[in-house]
Order: sequence, then structure tokens, then C-alpha cells
Amino acid sequence: LAVDPFDLVVFGGTGDLAYRKLFPSLYRRDRDGQITDPSRIIGVSRRQLSRDEFRKEVSEALEAHVTAEEREGDKLRRFLDRLDYHAVDADHDEGWEELRAAIADGLDRVRAIYLATSPNLFDAIAHGLAKFDLITPKTRVVLEKPLGHDLASAQEINDAVGDVLPESQIYRIDHYLGKETVQNLMALRFANVLFEPVWNSAHVDHVQIMVAEKIGVEGRGGYYDTAGALRDMMQNHILQLLCLVAMEPPSAMEADALRDEKLKVLRALKPIDDSNVRTLTVRGQYRSGVIDGKSVPGYLEELDGVDESTTETYVALKAEVQTWRWAGVPFYLRSGKRLPTQVSEIVIQFRQVPLSIFGSAGGFLAQNALVIRLQPDEGVKLYLMIKDPGPGGMRFREVPLNLSFAETFKGRNPDAYERLLMDVIRGNQALFMRRDEVEAAWVWADPILEAWSRLGQPPAPYTAGTWGPSSAVALIERDGRTWREDP
Ligand code: BG6
Repeated sequence: LAVDPFDLVVFGGTGDLAYRKLFPSLYRRDRDGQITDPSRIIGVSRRQLSRDEFRKEVSEALEAHVTAEEREGDKLRRFLDRLDYHAVDADHDEGWEELRAAIADGLDRVRAIYLATSPNLFDAIAHGLAKFDLITPKTRVVLEKPLGHDLASAQEINDAVGDVLPESQIYRIDHYLGKETVQNLMALRFANVLFEPVWNSAHVDHVQIMVAEKIGVEGRGGYYDTAGALRDMMQNHILQLLCLVAMEPPSAMEADALRDEKLKVLRALKPIDDSNVRTLTVRGQYRSGVIDGKSVPGYLEELDGVDESTTETYVALKAEVQTWRWAGVPFYLRSGKRLPTQVSEIVIQFRQVPLSIFGSAGGFLAQNALVIRLQPDEGVKLYLMIKDPGPGGMRFREVPLNLSFAETFKGRNPDAYERLLMDVIRGNQALFMRRDEVEAAWVWADPILEAWSRLGQPPAPYTAGTWGPSSAVALIERDGRTWREDP
């Protein structure tokens, strides 16, 4: 499983993402023996730091984000030894030459360059890489989200990076694609014969995809207030999940075959615009409330120095994939911050049996449902109607066939970034978004954002610790359905 030695350069190397996710993930891959000598990891940012100061900061980050047990032994020292640091000013010429010289002896290795900075630096960094001759045939550039804030800005980023590198060397990350259960969705669909025959409008009543978070904006208010839930979660993570549910079987588990199929789904999304935005979408913004017995502030109080904002922290909408397979099947999507619990799941709700032969004695027959839980407690549940045991006659109860990952598979579930970082080194683009996918997702999202702004309605308030505004309940109940709260 070990990967070949590589050099990884992380722009934004002292930032929040690097410290919270990237270095902890790299450390875990190193600890498990997947990273081989003489691989190097080079942090880059504008700050002037010595190598030792940088190592100290990373070591503190690891203390905060990996367990004491994982830090035991001599592996931590070995990892810190791989780290180097260079100050580079992306907008100017300072530091680039030194960075080039520092990795000049690694020409034959994979050179991964991770852009974990604000996207308005992507252009300057991409051109700096070219100008200072840092791009080799084995260079791969990883782009973090957000990839723009609308179609035009996404195209600008893609053009700028595309100027200096071919698409085959560009890795646009959506960390949801690295989550274990997300890949399991593909296993469920394409490694089993059971589901595919019923995976269509003849048998599926509707689909729900939910990403609920307990956290608020967590000091990221500056970014979040310019984004909102549609840009932050829907345009990328949730649409990617929708693609994996709705796509046709790719001819092979190969990057372009897979991405071609996802692209077709994105292009088949029914447009939401001025004509239907009011009935198909709901926006919300949290007010102060109580979560897990603790008071939490409202959105505006969390933003520094802002006393008015129409940014949505919750969005629910009804999407539709206009293909033969899915025509008429609603995809209800929702995501919000400061909801009562952190849970992400996909529900495939099947249709009612065509005829209940048990009469009223059996009671209500619930529709079968397949629930794929992404986090926490990863697992898959298939809800079936089962006869209640005992002599009481044919009475039914909805019971899940329950596959809990924790119970079935011992061992730790790797973080999405662990897998995705190693995929970059291995040169596997399957779980990364292609340019046309990102842009197709914006083609769907832009008219929604524009319609909202023309509508000029502020987001509906909801109390932190509740499941969002009541209009979100109405959105689905109008159709005679309900949001599924999985026990
Ligand atoms: C990020 C969003 O992409 O995903 C955050 O910018 C969000 O706002 C996060 O909190 C959720 O990721 P996860 O892996 O914690 O579900």
C-alpha cells in the first residue's frame, strides 16, 4: 500500500485547513507506513517562520487533532523530520526561487502542490509555479474549495490554472467524495445485483439527502457570510452525493468514465429560477438557541462587527433529475448549521406496495427505505416490513437490516483527506472533480442565487437547536411526504 516517495508543497501551510485536516491526515498515513522515505512535506505561506518554528506549530496542531495514543512512539519525530518551510509571497517574486531550489533535487518524484489558500490567490500561485519553473511532468496541483462563488469566478480560476497545467494534472477536491460511506454508495449500487433493478422512478418514491451540522460558523464568518449554505454545501458536497445516487453505471471505475456520468446528472438537473424558486427552495438563518443543554449565539452575534446579513445558514430544496430513470422523482436536499445534531445521510425511499393484501388488520405498511449514514456511526440500514413475532396475527413493524461499520469492521475509519491525499500521490483522479463538473454545478446554482437576490426576501429565522424553519417542513409536506428522522 505504500506510495512512492513524493514532495508535497502546501500553500496556506499555516492555515486552519492545513493544521486541522491536512497535517493530521498526512501524519496518520505516515504512521501507518504508507509514506516512504525520502518524502518531504513543505509548508508555504507569507509568514516568516524558521523550519523549527514551523515544526513546532505543526506538532502543536497534531497534539490538538490526533489522539495521544496515535502520537506514541517515534513516528511523530519521523514525521516532523519530513517537514520544511518556505515563506513565499504569492503576489510577488519573493521566496519562489528559494522554494524551487529546496525541491530541485526531487525532479523524478511526484510533486504535489496543494493550494489551501483563499481562491483569490489561485491565479497568482499557478502563474508563480510556471514562472519559477516549479512544474514538472509529475506535478499535480490540488485545489481546495471554494472554487469560486459563481460560474464566472469558477471559470476564471479554471482558466488561470488551466493556463499552466493540463486537466490531467489538476485535482479539485471535494472531501465528501473521500468519505468511506460515500464510496460505499458505489459499492452498494455496482457490486450488488439487488439494488440496481429497483433504482429508478418505477420503484423509488423520492430521495432525501441531508447534511446537518451542530456547529455554527466557527470563526469563519468572513468567508461564510459571502457564501451561505447553497454555495458552501449544496453546490459541491450535496450535489456530488446526488450525482453518485443518480448517475448511470459507469463503464469502469475509472476517473473519466465516472466523471462523465456525474456530469450527465448535473446537466440534467431541472433549473430553479424566478419561476419556481419560491415553491422549490427555503432559506433560513439561525437565531440564538440551545444545543445539548448549552446556549449558543445567533448567526449575527457570531459575525464580528456585522449587524445585518441576508446570508442563509440553512437551505432546503426540491431538485429533480430530468432523465428517463428519474423523471418525476423528487430529490429533497437540506443542509444547515446549528441544527440539533450532526448527521449526514442519504435516504432512498421506495414506493408503497401496489396492493396491501392484509387489509386494515396488518396496520400501516411503511415504505421500504435504504438509509446510508455518512457520519457519525457510518452504516447502511435497509428498512423492511417484518411481521411482529407472536400469536397476534399478521401485524407488521418497520425494522432495519442494520450494517453498522463500527460493529462489522474493526479498526479506524480513515478521514476523507487521508484517502484523497494518497490518491493525489498515486495519480488517481476518480474522486476529484473535473472542470466541467464544477462549472455545471454552478450553472445550476447561479440562477437560484440570482432568483433569491431578486426576490429580496431575508432568510426565515430558526432557533439554533431546531431542525430549521417551518417552511422547510412545509416544502416536503406539501407533497404528502415528510423528512425522515432516523432513529
Ligand atoms: C466544508 C464547509 O466544506 O464542509 C463547512 O465549508 C462544513 O462549512 C464542512 O462545516 C463539513 O464537513 P464535514 O466533513 O465535517 O461534514
